Amino acid sequence: MKKINNSAAWQKLTQHAERLRDRHLRDLFAEDRERFQGFSLTHGDLLVDFSKQRIEQSTLNLLHEFAEFVGWQAWREQMYAGEAINHTEGRSVGHWRLRAGSGAPSEVQEVLDRMARFCNEVHSGVWRGYSGKPITDVVNLGIGGSDLGPRMVVQALAAHWRKEVRIHFVANLDGADLALALQNLDPASTLFVVASKTFTTQETMTNARTARDWLMQKIGDDSRSVSRHFAAASCNTESAEAFGIAPENVFPFADWVGGRFSLCSSVGLSIALAIGFDGFERLLAGARNMDEHFLSAPASENIPLVLALLGFWNGNFLGARSQAIFPYSHSLRLLPAYLQQLEMESNGKRVDRDGERVDYVTNPVIWGESGTNGQHSFFQLLHQGGELLPSDFIVITKPDFPLPGHHEALLANCLAQSSALAFGKSETEVRSEGVSEALIAYRSFPGNQPSTTIVLSSLDPFSLGQLIALYEHKVFCLGVLWNLNSFDQWGVELGKQLAGRLLPLISGGSPTDGYDSSTGGMIEHLKGLRSANSSCS
Ligand code: F6P
Repeated sequence: MKKINNSAAWQKLTQHAERLRDRHLRDLFAEDRERFQGFSLTHGDLLVDFSKQRIEQSTLNLLHEFAEFVGWQAWREQMYAGEAINHTEGRSVGHWRLRAGSGAPSEVQEVLDRMARFCNEVHSGVWRGYSGKPITDVVNLGIGGSDLGPRMVVQALAAHWRKEVRIHFVANLDGADLALALQNLDPASTLFVVASKTFTTQETMTNARTARDWLMQKIGDDSRSVSRHFAAASCNTESAEAFGIAPENVFPFADWVGGRFSLCSSVGLSIALAIGFDGFERLLAGARNMDEHFLSAPASENIPLVLALLGFWNGNFLGARSQAIFPYSHSLRLLPAYLQQLEMESNGKRVDRDGERVDYVTNPVIWGESGTNGQHSFFQLLHQGGELLPSDFIVITKPDFPLPGHHEALLANCLAQSSALAFGKSETEVRSEGVSEALIAYRSFPGNQPSTTIVLSSLDPFSLGQLIALYEHKVFCLGVLWNLNSFDQWGVELGKQLAGRLLPLISGGSPTDGYDSSTGGMIEHLKGLRSANSSCS
């Protein structure tokens, strides 16, 4: 494909942005009293209000024209036809297949049936540890997509947790993570789920080996007993079994499931254990419902496409370099971290599908915090810092943990923030409040910060499944708009290789010649301190 930013469709957007650059959201709202109706979409119980984005109808028209130009529908068809659109790894992209219900491949349905049986056995106490005790604690050992998705979902669905088991997540290579998780656990009633697509990831394998040693210290080197305490979710079933996990406890998934898109696969075992398999099925049903919307809704009503177009507009034409995520929900507090991987690992790239360096910006930095906590830390900068900072607010109509007075105040704060960000407070308004002249500049708010608000009716497995699939498809659309392959992640490889080479230097006595002076100097410094510490202890 020719450079997309030389296309007429791109150029038209550039010119349009010039015209719109100085327009204020205050004016856009004053000119159009029906702006909320015109710039919001619903799908079932889900509402997406993007009226506070810096757009006019003509902006959307031009954005849709660009989406047509890059052939977003053809790319969507290729994904759904199972073509190898992840061309650098020679793989198709099939996370949507995992939740296709009766349309899912037979191997997916088989694994789901096995997961259902496994969960029922654990919950009913039929599944027993080596000493005959039922399982009370499950520890998910995984990192990246094998951690962030399940961790976020389990946290989000706290109101739906089963009483029989507590779920813990350990990801970090730093021993503190595993040590703290294990300190209150009884090996006899603990089940480890090793979640790793490749079953080679250093962090996960280190944690899994240490967890196995911890168990063996208690029960002795009895592999049959170990098999009562370990399960795995992986593409690499051979290595999982070689680790000592019984074949019947290994839940496979296919390599057409990307790590950051894998929570609907067996990587979701910890979710199913947390909320019950029927809850997990409702999560899949919600995701399927959004898949169907993405496949069938016309472009102008297609919510994932519209969200992607707004991100593209803010980044490539208005100059935003970050995108904030503000769930006004304590339960959804891990959503920003989950979306960081989903978006930045997918589209944080600078080489297009044709192998050419791009000369336009791609994924913005994704960041965020739950509301209202963020208001008391960094919102100052959003309101008065002077940089364009688009945000997504996520709000739940019904509280998952109702306490008198809390939810109404939370909703009021969410609406107050998006409104303050959009409309600000002019110097004239501040002056009319009698503020002294010396303070007027300090106390005025420029506004014009764009935001989208996504409203879920409640935080249940179904609506969360919808929300997850919505962002997954947004990421796919953004990749198409930027002409990127969203499904590889070569950028994480170099650090892994270097860490492998540096490990023997840090733990052993190999010379550091050949390293840059910073890395070499640091190794010598750390080795010196470490040996001083060990001779003191
Ligand atoms: O960080 C790179 C990455 O490969 C992610 O894409 C993936 O989610 C994570 O590591 C964990 O990989 P695995 O599931 O193979 O352990």
